[in-house]
Amino acid sequence: MTLLQRLIEQAKKPRGIVGSLMLRIMNFAHSGMNTWLMKNGAVYDGDIVLDIGCGGGKTLQTLSKINPSGKIYGIDFSEQAIKDSIKTNRKDVANGKVIVKQASVSSIPYTDKFFDTITALQTHYFWSDLANDVKEVFRVLKNGGKFIIISELYKINYHMKAYKTKPEIKKLLESVGFQTVHIQENTQKGWLCITGIK
Ligand SMILES: C[S@@+](CC[C@H](N)C(=O)[O-])C[C@H]1O[C@@H](n2cnc3c(N)ncnc32)[C@H](O)[C@@H]1O
Repeated sequence: MTLLQRLIEQAKKPRGIVGSLMLRIMNFAHSGMNTWLMKNGAVYDGDIVLDIGCGGGKTLQTLSKINPSGKIYGIDFSEQAIKDSIKTNRKDVANGKVIVKQASVSSIPYTDKFFDTITALQTHYFWSDLANDVKEVFRVLKNGGKFIIISELYKINYHMKAYKTKPEIKKLLESVGFQTVHIQENTQKGWLCITGIK
């Protein structure tokens, strides 16, 4: 395996010391995306929020700060990501405001219509079965709830075979049942924000 392939594997499912180092780097490198997410009015105080592929836990921390009376849940299928998310959000995890579980997006361990908002930053291009995984997201989202994906365009283009164009991803979300789908592009940064309203 080449060094690039190893790094991609670590970004897809961080493991061990190298994975933990990458998660720390991602917490720092993706902080601008968190700011963009908040500027987009993603979350209201009191919301029950899920961050999928929570990685090192930076988004959970940001969501918790702007949502003082809500609850923030995080899932990630990497054991290392869960450990690191707990460390990053030590205080909020201890007081029960942030709840982190090891789980795949393909089988979200929560009941139907549980969340007001679901976020997924720099992760959907790694999901093995996007069409079904989006159905699973739809299941746990309340009616009127928001599903927000933010990813770098070049990573979408690099990793994805299907659903990489704006019309394709819009059509997918609509086919699952999302009533409205907005797609915004930050051309300066090369970021895409896809919002589906249920
Ligand atoms: C590039 S990292 C991004 C982490 C974080 N969202 C951020 O922006 O810094 C991708 C994360 O998604 C997680 N992930 C990938 N596929 C997943 C899946 N099918 N279910 C749950 N988590 C997944 C990985 O374990 C990893 O922590």
